[in-house]
Amino acid sequence: MEAIRHHDHRYYVLDAPEIADHEYDALFRELEGLERDHPELVTPDSPTRRVGGAVAEGFPEVRHEAPMLSLQSIQDETELREFTDRMEREIGRDDLDYCLEPKFDGLSVELVYEDGRFVRGATRGNGTIGEDITANLRTIRSLPLRLAGDETPRRLAVRGEAVLPVADFGRMNESLERAGKDTFKNPRNAAAGSLRQLDPAVAAARPLALYAYDILVWDDGEHAAPGTQSGVLRTLAGFGFRVAAAPRGNGEEEAGRQAVWWEVGRGPDQVLAYHRLLIAGRDRFAVELDGAVVKLDRIADQEELGERSRNPRWAVAFKFPPGQAKTALLGIDVQVGRTGKLTPVARLDPVLVSGVTVSRATLHNEGMVRSLDAGPGDRVRIQRAGDVIPQVVEVVSRTREEGAAPWSMPSGCPECGRPVLAEGANHFCSGGWSCPAQRKARLVHFVGKGGMEIETLGDELVELLVECGFVRSPADLYRLTREKLLAVPAQPAGRPFDPAGAAALVRRLGAARKVPLRRVLVALGLPGVGPTRAEAMARDFDLTALRAHSERLADEEPAGRADEALKALASPGKRALLEDLVDAGVVEGAPGGCRREESFRWAPDALAAAIARLAEKNALDLPRLSEAIAADLTKAGRVERPADLFRLTAADLLALPERRRRPFAEKSAANLLRELEESRTVRLDRFLFALGIPHVGQHVARVLAARYGSLEGLAAANREALLEVHEIGEQVADAVIGFFSDEANRRELEDLANLGVAPAWEATGESTLSGLRIVLTGTLAGLTREEAGELIERHGGRVVSSVSSRTSLLVAGERAGSKLEKARGLGVVVGGEEELRRLAAGDVTLDELAAAETGTGDGT
Ligand code: IVH
Repeated sequence: MEAIRHHDHRYYVLDAPEIADHEYDALFRELEGLERDHPELVTPDSPTRRVGGAVAEGFPEVRHEAPMLSLQSIQDETELREFTDRMEREIGRDDLDYCLEPKFDGLSVELVYEDGRFVRGATRGNGTIGEDITANLRTIRSLPLRLAGDETPRRLAVRGEAVLPVADFGRMNESLERAGKDTFKNPRNAAAGSLRQLDPAVAAARPLALYAYDILVWDDGEHAAPGTQSGVLRTLAGFGFRVAAAPRGNGEEEAGRQAVWWEVGRGPDQVLAYHRLLIAGRDRFAVELDGAVVKLDRIADQEELGERSRNPRWAVAFKFPPGQAKTALLGIDVQVGRTGKLTPVARLDPVLVSGVTVSRATLHNEGMVRSLDAGPGDRVRIQRAGDVIPQVVEVVSRTREEGAAPWSMPSGCPECGRPVLAEGANHFCSGGWSCPAQRKARLVHFVGKGGMEIETLGDELVELLVECGFVRSPADLYRLTREKLLAVPAQPAGRPFDPAGAAALVRRLGAARKVPLRRVLVALGLPGVGPTRAEAMARDFDLTALRAHSERLADEEPAGRADEALKALASPGKRALLEDLVDAGVVEGAPGGCRREESFRWAPDALAAAIARLAEKNALDLPRLSEAIAADLTKAGRVERPADLFRLTAADLLALPERRRRPFAEKSAANLLRELEESRTVRLDRFLFALGIPHVGQHVARVLAARYGSLEGLAAANREALLEVHEIGEQVADAVIGFFSDEANRRELEDLANLGVAPAWEATGESTLSGLRIVLTGTLAGLTREEAGELIERHGGRVVSSVSSRTSLLVAGERAGSKLEKARGLGVVVGGEEELRRLAAGDVTLDELAAAETGTGDGT
């Protein structure tokens, strides 16, 4: 086992195997044999156990060991210098080292090890809670199931990126295409899609790799965690993880594609040089990168700076410059958003930009179109950076006539025809809820994430409900009934085949030659004949014997189950099917093309069912050839008998009509109604956010909910009172007042209330922590970071990441470190979870806490 682990590491992590593949296979088989003979010796981290365990039923949620933060992005040299200046200012030194790493474009995962063994792995999820994908992660060969070395911590959580190497991505898409399956847009989607497969065997077949780059938790009494980020990378490599290659010059160049590397650089100039080198090498790397990550190297410095709104303040993602391309501007459409804002959108001749096909790009507003002087027919340069919406950068050549009028916003909304009003640089539709585009967008927001969170209702379903006139406002959602939902008409669901899928099926049909008799027997659908029975029959008879036997039985009463199956074979339908397959040359051991004159005429339904059976996995295994498709083929007159299948062309498949599907069936309707029912008691802040009041984001919604505690309370607040609330400025105050003084909005809220929608706020939600800046550190026994943060915000407090003289309270848990020292040094009040709860409950005041602290002389 040790030997296999060693060779796995050489092969999958270091890319430097020491033994030939067949030698490795022999070792592996030896271990398998040993484990078979001595099952008591099998350990869960054995190399033979990479794919194992049952197929998961969805993925359970897991709470991360520590929050998985994300990174703030910077784009250029100026922003980089701002970052390094800030680091120098705040740390108070100008000789700071940065750990410079490639930014892998994959799926971020957390890997937990206990006593050196891999016990759990999860997706990042929302940073606090992710999905448990342990079984799939185990299949990644560069993920150590057991940490190497003797000095491994008792408990370790590692963060890394699961990626699909570019070359494997290409190969995988080709084979998906051959199998007639959907392909992936880019390697990142492919990696994410593979890890979210419910069947670990599928994930195992995908050549994923894992690069580790961070230690989230290091828990050990004996060994100390590394003190620098570069030390973290070295330690991870020592544990057997694949990390970006150690500093350059280590000869990590492979034939063809180059490994990416990390290094330590001092000051902004070395960071810039690293960034430039990565860009220059970008296309030659084995994995997709989308930038460099710049991290302060010393962990103590990192801790001093802390984090802000889910981003560390000591690191940035220095993105690569956006990819650009030139194409034709076909036209300018106008889109209406949730707030009624009109956005001109360029309709483009589709073009590939850094791996993604772009056919639309935003033009922001009328002023932008005018300053570009863009119009239909022009050639334009577009760019896309990361996941942001592609933009039009400039016009490269104009085809329009001299003096043609510049493009301008329509005076009526393109969706509802109501007047368009200019407001600053932007234009707005004045239709409000009566404009279908605004209505749809507002409803999508209402049911979306952070709002009512009705998961059954995706954007398309909301739009459909609006289009069929069932839903015009949020209240209508609560008037939906099962009958209404089932009455939503069937919708076009696309054509069954795209060119790749059609070509793949035709190829597979062409390759269906010399199919073993046992599979043909399954394909015939004889009573009681599954794969096992078919196998036995094929062992006992050849084709000629089968035919003879079945004809002999045709007129007799069957004596047993085997006879019954054979007798069925004598029925005209089964016989016709068998002879047809023989005729098409499909059956092993029977020359095709000797059609006996047949008088059997297939009824369309029976033919479709027969074809579907034929296509099954244990029969001819033709994925995609479903009964519905078979029915379409017979209806279109393309297939009149089974043998016709093998003469199909891709054109026949592409000509099949578009499908239609009902969006709601019994089950989905019931799910939606249940979700709506449950949402009636939504939390007040989520409801306020769902209403889409301008400038009221999730945080502001929480502040308002904490201050007012009820919808009525907020509705009754006047401008002055609102302005007194910590963090509420004029913009928000005006928007809130505007919202509640609008007659239509008031009616809508009344409607919702009458339908039983009663947003609630916990009674304890008084603003007991209003105005307090609270820092959390260490592990709290009864609250996660997220829960503590929510408790604080719910009571009007603010969570800040670093301790300063402006900090009101430090809540310290177990293993609190430098923040606790700093707080003591600055005389900041320090308490534990208990103190936080009492403060929030209004049982004590901050002053009382401070007095108690000095009184006892004990900080915690
Ligand atoms: S460090 C607190 N290092 O980029 C540190 N992230 O935009 C947070 N990523 O979600 C992350 N390569 O999935 C770090 N070398 C690297 C990375 C990396 C890729 C991803 C990561 C994160 C995203 C942030």
